[in-house]
Amino acid sequence: MKGSKCFFLYAFFLPFVIIIVSAAHSCEYPKQGGKKLFVFGDSFVDNGNLGKIGKLARSWTYPYGITFPHHPTGRFSDGRVLSDFIASFMRIRSPIPYKYRKFGFQLLRYGMNFAVGGTGVFDTGDFQRNLTVQIDVFERQIKNGIFSRCDLDSSIALVAVSGNDYGTYQSSGHPFNEISTFMNSLMSQLKVDLKRIHDLGVRKVVVTNLHPLGCTPMIARVSNYSSCNSTINLAVQQHNQKLDAIVKELLIETRSYDTFMSLDVHGAFWSILAQEKFKNGLKPCCEGNTNAINCGEVDDKGVKLYKLCSDPQDYFYWDSVHPTQAGWTAAYQALKPSLSKIFE
Ligand SMILES: *[C@@H]1O[C@H](CO)[C@@H](O)[C@H](O)[C@H]1NC(C)=O
Ligand SMILES: *[C@@H]1O[C@H](CO)[C@@H](O)[C@H](O)[C@H]1NC(C)=O
Ligand SMILES: *[C@@H]1O[C@H](CO)[C@@H](O)[C@H](O)[C@H]1NC(C)=O
Repeated sequence: MKGSKCFFLYAFFLPFVIIIVSAAHSCEYPKQGGKKLFVFGDSFVDNGNLGKIGKLARSWTYPYGITFPHHPTGRFSDGRVLSDFIASFMRIRSPIPYKYRKFGFQLLRYGMNFAVGGTGVFDTGDFQRNLTVQIDVFERQIKNGIFSRCDLDSSIALVAVSGNDYGTYQSSGHPFNEISTFMNSLMSQLKVDLKRIHDLGVRKVVVTNLHPLGCTPMIARVSNYSSCNSTINLAVQQHNQKLDAIVKELLIETRSYDTFMSLDVHGAFWSILAQEKFKNGLKPCCEGNTNAINCGEVDDKGVKLYKLCSDPQDYFYWDSVHPTQAGWTAAYQALKPSLSKIFE
């Protein structure tokens, strides 16, 4: 009797011993404890990397940040942005912007944010860097030993490319009807980028799909914010189908079912706008007087070149392309079921 009980205990505990030993082995240098978030992309997720570079970085001027934390922090909204909400879902603090890494060592255990407002998969202007450069910076952090293989193993990467490539494509005079050729080259580069983040050791890579660009105030302004541009939204659908296809390819190539996932930001925005969840759907809270994009701009005498609403919580859009914090809160509610699947 005594002997068989002992055997039972042995058989029960042995697998645990093996698991503990092998886990310790694969995780030799745990630098920073806990689950981490690494963020790549543009203004939908940047929390301060885009520097104070004059007019272009309006995210560092009033009225950006008026709702949270009541002053500008480099976020393109009146408050929190998507990366803040994803971090909160993971029950961690928003990862520190790479630019300010020296000022928050204790924050390194939450990961790092490499996103820069204005970024595209390809170059988007004179000063804005592309996604490749952000991954280079990430790789350097690993090589410098800031994050170990072990840290990456339990981490999530969030990649958000939200349309700057198309803005650059169009503003440099390319014809709209040739956009699908451009889309294909964008997708093949994006696939390389996603694969590279995974190859560097991040277990799960989550990429946002493209929001309905044709509904952004910048575009909807011509209709007095009464309708979206369906031609542009059709191209967005094409983009999202191609994105789903590359995610599937990556899953097959890495022989896994959950290393790459797309996050349906498009569906979230679309359901909010279609169900008219906000008093002001397409009209932005902060609107330029003469064009859609100069929220926050003042002239030489300090006179405002924009109009600011008094109730941002009633607006989905904050400025010409970015949601308000209330807008992101609603989108986050819509994304929660998918996030539960991603982080299960
Ligand atoms: C990204 O930018 C770097 C540095 O300017 C450049 O070398 C590289 O070719 C660019 N990559 C892409 C995909 O545009
Ligand atoms: C635009 O819409 C607003 C409110 O919906 C309305 O007051 C205004 O007259 C409209 N302007 C034009 C030019 O149609
Ligand atoms: C929608 O956008 C396309 C592409 O920029 C443009 O050619 C077209 O005129 C726009 N349609 C409307 C109704 O504004």
